Amino acid sequence: MVWGGQWHIGTSLNCDDCHLQHASKQGQSLPGGPYTYLLLKDNINDLCLSCHDGTNATAPDVQAPVDMYSSTSSQESAAGYFETVGIDNPHGHTLGVNVLVPLQNEGNSVTLTCASCHAVHGNSNYRNLLYDPASVGATITLEEGLDVFTQNNPANPPTVSGSIQAYERDNVGYKNDFSQWCVSCHNQLATNSSSTPPAHFNAHPNNVALNEFVGDYHTDPAHWTLGTGEGFAVDTSSTTGIPRVPFLAPTASDYTTSKIAQSSNKVFCGSCHKAHGKDNNKSLLWPFLEGGNNFIAGCQQCHYK
Ligand code: HEC
Ligand code: HEC
Ligand code: HEC
Ligand code: HEC
Ligand code: HEC
Ligand code: HEC
Repeated sequence: MVWGGQWHIGTSLNCDDCHLQHASKQGQSLPGGPYTYLLLKDNINDLCLSCHDGTNATAPDVQAPVDMYSSTSSQESAAGYFETVGIDNPHGHTLGVNVLVPLQNEGNSVTLTCASCHAVHGNSNYRNLLYDPASVGATITLEEGLDVFTQNNPANPPTVSGSIQAYERDNVGYKNDFSQWCVSCHNQLATNSSSTPPAHFNAHPNNVALNEFVGDYHTDPAHWTLGTGEGFAVDTSSTTGIPRVPFLAPTASDYTTSKIAQSSNKVFCGSCHKAHGKDNNKSLLWPFLEGGNNFIAGCQQCHYK
C-alpha cells in the first residue's frame, strides 16, 4: 500500500501513541482502563484530542482556542478548529453529539468523531481522509501530489516549527474535487442543479470555473486575479476584506502552480467553509451570517459588484 497521509501512517504509526501494549502505561496502571482495543482513552475524540488540543506542541491543534499558527501569515490551519466535544457547535462540525446530517437526502443522524473523517491507522489519502466517510461503499481518493499539493511536509520526528509550517493554511493548494469528498455526506449538493437562464443554478455552484460562462457578468475574473480592492485584505491587520479564499486550480502540476490565481480557478466547498470550523457561523470563512464590514468579503472576491 502507498502511504499518502503524512503522519500516523506506515513507519510513523506509533502504536503506543494511542494503544497500551499491555493493560498498563510505563508500568503504571491506567485509572479506569484498559479500554476497548486497549486504547488510552475511552472514546476516540478524547484520545485524539489528548494531543490535538494544543497541549502537545508538536501535534497540530484542532480545538479552540488555537494559537500555534499566530506566527504565520494565514494565522490559521487549513482545516480550522472545533469547539467543546459534546456541545452543539454553531461554528462548524459538532463532535460527540447525535445530530442530523444537514443537506443529506437520507437525513441520517450520526455522532461525529475524528474517525468519522480520518482513518485512524492511516491510508493513501491526503491527511488520512477516509475513502468512504458516509459508509455507502464509495472509494474517494484525494491524493497528496495529485489532487492536493503541500510545500512543507511535517517533520519526522515531529517538531513544533515543522508542524506549524506543514499544517498552516497557506501550505496547501487544491487541484481536484475536494467537494466530492464533502458531498459523500452532504449529498444534496452532489450535483449543481440547473436553473432558468440567465441564472445557471438553483444553489451556489461547486467546481465551476470563474470563466466558465464568459460574458454573463456573474463573476469578475479580472478582479479575482488581481487580488486587491473589494473583498481582499491588504494585510493581516486589515479590518476590511479577508485573505484570498481557497480555490481549485485545475491546471496545477505542483504546489507553486496550485497557488496561482487565474480565471480558470474553480469555486469549491473550501472557498466558503473550513473543514473543522472557525469562529463564524456555519463554519464560513467570513461573517456572512453575523453581518458587519466583511459580511460579503468572500463573495466580493469573485463577484465584484
Ligand atoms: C501522542 C499524540 C497524538 C495522538 C494521541 C494523536 N495524534 Fe495525530 N498527530 C500527532 C502529531 C505529533 C502529528 C504531526 C506529526 C508531524 O508533524 O510530524 C499528528 C498528525 C495528525 C494528522 C495529520 C496527518 C497528515 O497526513 O499530515 C491527522 C489527520 C491526525 N494527526 C489525526 C489524529 C487522529 C484522528 C487521532 C486519534 C485517533 C490522533 N491524531 C491522535 C500526534 C498525535
Ligand atoms: C492515532 C491513534 C492510533 C494509533 C497510532 C494506532 N491505533 Fe490502533 N486503533 C485506534 C483506534 C481509535 C481504534 C478503534 C477503532 C474503532 O473503534 O473503530 C483502533 C483499533 C485497533 C485495533 C482493533 C480494530 C482493528 O482495526 O483491527 C487493532 C488490532 C489496532 N488498533 C492495532 C494497532 C497497531 C498494531 C498499531 C501500531 C502499528 C496501532 N493500532 C496504532 C487508534 C490508533
Ligand atoms: C467532518 C470531517 C472531519 C472531522 C470530524 C475531523 N476532521 Fe480533521 N480534517 C478534515 C479535513 C477535510 C481536513 C483537511 C482540510 C484541508 O486541508 O483543507 C482535516 C485536517 C486535519 C488535520 C490537519 C491540520 C489542520 O488543521 O488542517 C488534523 C491534525 C486533523 N484534521 C485532526 C482531526 C482530529 C484530531 C479530529 C477529531 C477531534 C478531526 N480531525 C475531525 C475533516 C475532518
Ligand atoms: C461523515 C459525514 C460528514 C462529512 C464527510 C462532512 N460533513 Fe459536514 N456535517 C456533518 C454533520 C453530521 C453535520 C451536523 C453537525 C452540526 O450540527 O454541527 C455537518 C454540518 C456541516 C455544516 C454546518 C455547520 C454548522 O455550524 O451548522 C457545514 C458548513 C458542513 N457540514 C460542511 C462540510 C464540508 C465543507 C465538508 C468537507 C470538508 C463536510 N461538511 C464533510 C457530516 C459530515
Ligand atoms: C471562489 C469564487 C467564488 C466565491 C467566493 C463566491 N462565488 Fe458565487 N459564483 C462563483 C462562480 C464560479 C459561479 C458560477 C459562474 C456563473 O454563474 O457565471 C458563481 C455563481 C454565483 C451566482 C449565480 C448563480 C447562478 O444561478 O448562476 C450567485 C447568485 C452567486 N454566485 C452568489 C455568491 C455569494 C452570495 C457568495 C458569497 C456568500 C459567492 N457567490 C461566493 C464563484 C464564487
Ligand atoms: C459560495 C460559498 C459557498 C460554497 C461554495 C458552499 N457553501 Fe455551504 N453554505 C454557504 C453559506 C453562506 C451557508 C449558510 C447560509 C445558508 O444556509 O444558506 C452555507 C451552509 C451550508 C451548510 C449548512 C446547512 C444547514 O442547514 O445548516 C452545509 C452543510 C454546507 N453549507 C455544506 C457545503 C458543502 C458540502 C459545500 C461543497 C459541496 C458547500 N457548502 C459549498 C456558502 C457556501
